[in-house]
Amino acid sequence: MKRSGLLSLIITALFTGLILFIGAAEPSGPGDFRSDQFLKSGICSNCHGSSFGEWDGSMHSNADSDFFYQATLQEYGVAAEAQGLSPEFCSRCHTPVGVVSAEIPPLNGSHLSEVSKEGVQCDFCHSVAESEGIGNAPFVLEPGDIKWGNRSDAESSSHETEAHEFYNDSAYCGMCHNIYHPVNNLTLGATYTEWEESSYAEEGVNCQACHMTPGIVGFEENPGKAASTGPEREHVYTHHFVGANAFVTDVMGESRHEKRAIEYLQHAAELEVTAPDSAEPEENVKVEVKITNVGAGHRIPTGVTEDREMWLELTVNDSEGRILYHSGALDSEGKIDPETTVYHTVFADSEGKPTVKLWEAESILSDNRIGPKESVIENLSFIMPENASNPINTKAVLHYRSAPQKHIDELFGERAYTVPVIEMATYPEEEKTSTPGFGTIGAIIALSLGIAFRRRKR
Ligand code: HEC
Ligand code: HEC
Ligand code: HEC
Ligand code: HEC
Ligand code: HEC
Repeated sequence: MKRSGLLSLIITALFTGLILFIGAAEPSGPGDFRSDQFLKSGICSNCHGSSFGEWDGSMHSNADSDFFYQATLQEYGVAAEAQGLSPEFCSRCHTPVGVVSAEIPPLNGSHLSEVSKEGVQCDFCHSVAESEGIGNAPFVLEPGDIKWGNRSDAESSSHETEAHEFYNDSAYCGMCHNIYHPVNNLTLGATYTEWEESSYAEEGVNCQACHMTPGIVGFEENPGKAASTGPEREHVYTHHFVGANAFVTDVMGESRHEKRAIEYLQHAAELEVTAPDSAEPEENVKVEVKITNVGAGHRIPTGVTEDREMWLELTVNDSEGRILYHSGALDSEGKIDPETTVYHTVFADSEGKPTVKLWEAESILSDNRIGPKESVIENLSFIMPENASNPINTKAVLHYRSAPQKHIDELFGERAYTVPVIEMATYPEEEKTSTPGFGTIGAIIALSLGIAFRRRKR
């Protein structure tokens, strides 16, 4: 072989190797970085005060300090040690900087730096150079001078900026908002997939449109400055990252985010009730309630749905206020009436028994959640008593709770915390306790006008 031939062979081999190397970038792993390579969010706040103010107090900023998460993490720690599971599995999404800087394990957090304790924080999110797919946080990090974003004309004297389409794509959120069991690969949470299979994905209404703009059920412009020293922009993405958590936000004193979570919940669903105004004694009275997911770009509920609960409470009174029918009530221990349909996911462990412990899950026993723009119908009936007086009144309330009271009692002791029950939708609508204009009516009007679906403009 001639020398030039050999040289070109070597060059080709090196080049192919390089391409393979770049193409197959590994997700960042334990010990790849030091935590002091990530800046604390307070530093960004100097110029990005609005983004900071919105993020501060969100479940992203509390993803590590969340006491509910911490309690389950410690349970996982015990199981992981006994079963040889990867100790950093949970922390990869809840404190990603802690994992890549090998400050986790130990899971008690005693080695965590201040920046790692910030959970899903500014410099982590804006150092994601690429992702190796969806689920279980396959991020590839390049912390340093460059802050990645989605704006191609951003200029800052304090750091480099680089535009990456990925930041305006649901796949960005999909890194962490799909969760698979680390050993048996069972789907434990799939907000991204639920969205991907919905019409929202086709219409280009991504996670950012609803969770990073004031729109809630779709994109809404937010004019202003992305940085105090930068130019006026037609639209600046917000960083509240609010979903449905009005429990942990309340306990942790994050009242702004708690209030917003209630608003989100009250934009998600609509109730239609078909019930008679009057009935004859002994008549079998039939009531039909249709629940529609009108505002969420994924199932309701979504996320860690082994804990989340959604259910309907139905009350029928006669004209003197006597209760003729009541279902979906809570008992004194905070347990939902066992006859009630609870919308959530039930996982089974290796013995087929229901479990709320993600790492014990081996199969899905049931999943009756309501898909985006889908409806379910509940039929209820009762016998009209002899002495009841017409007209009769039907009231329906769709409730949401972040976790069963029993699970929280088991983790923290009897009534250490009372999990709030949020009214998502009510029938008749006037009775809803939310601010007028922010209820389901607003959501429907917004949807029907189509203003919710304007795409983002640069
Ligand atoms: C969960 C990850 C995440 C966190 C945490 C996060 N960001 Fe962002 N940020 C994004 C994404 C994604 C976008 C782009 C949204 C789009 O284009 O759809 C963005 C956009 C921005 C923008 C540009 C806004 C615009 O419209 O011009 C700035 C500035 C910014 N972020 C700063 C920050 C600061 C400062 C913090 C911390 C207080 C922070 N980010 C926390 C993901 C994050
Ligand atoms: C000294 C001021 C200053 C500090 C500190 C600062 N930035 Fe910026 N940053 C800017 C300016 C100015 C822009 C350009 C804004 C524009 O063009 O609208 C910018 C742009 C950005 C963008 C680009 C937005 C996009 O959509 O591409 C991101 C992301 C960003 N900063 C993240 C951060 C993060 C994360 C921190 C903290 C680690 C930080 N910045 C600290 C001034 C600053
Ligand atoms: C069309 C608007 C819309 C889109 C698109 C959307 N969401 Fe939501 N999201 C909502 C609303 C409304 C709620 C509150 C009701 C609920 O809990 O589902 C919510 C709730 C959530 C919650 C809290 C769920 C719980 O019960 O704990 C998470 C997490 C979430 N969204 C993440 C995402 C992610 C990730 C995406 C993209 C894959 C996304 N959302 C797309 C509107 C949207
Ligand atoms: C590094 C992983 C990670 C990424 C990337 C990420 N998230 Fe999250 N997100 C989390 C974790 C973890 C939580 C839950 C924290 C907790 O409750 O303890 C969360 C919570 C949320 C919530 C609050 C849910 C509630 O019940 O109130 C919303 C909304 C949300 N994320 C939206 C988004 C959106 C939109 C994106 C993409 C722009 C995104 N997230 C990207 C990890 C991530
Ligand atoms: C792939 C990313 C990912 C992994 C891995 C992960 N989580 Fe989460 N976790 C999330 C997201 C995203 C949410 C928010 C979803 C929602 O709001 O319903 C969340 C929410 C939670 C919540 C509810 C917190 C609240 O305030 O309501 C608990 C508890 C929790 N996770 C525990 C764990 C434990 C324990 C593990 C490990 C066995 C784990 N998570 C692994 C992404 C992850």
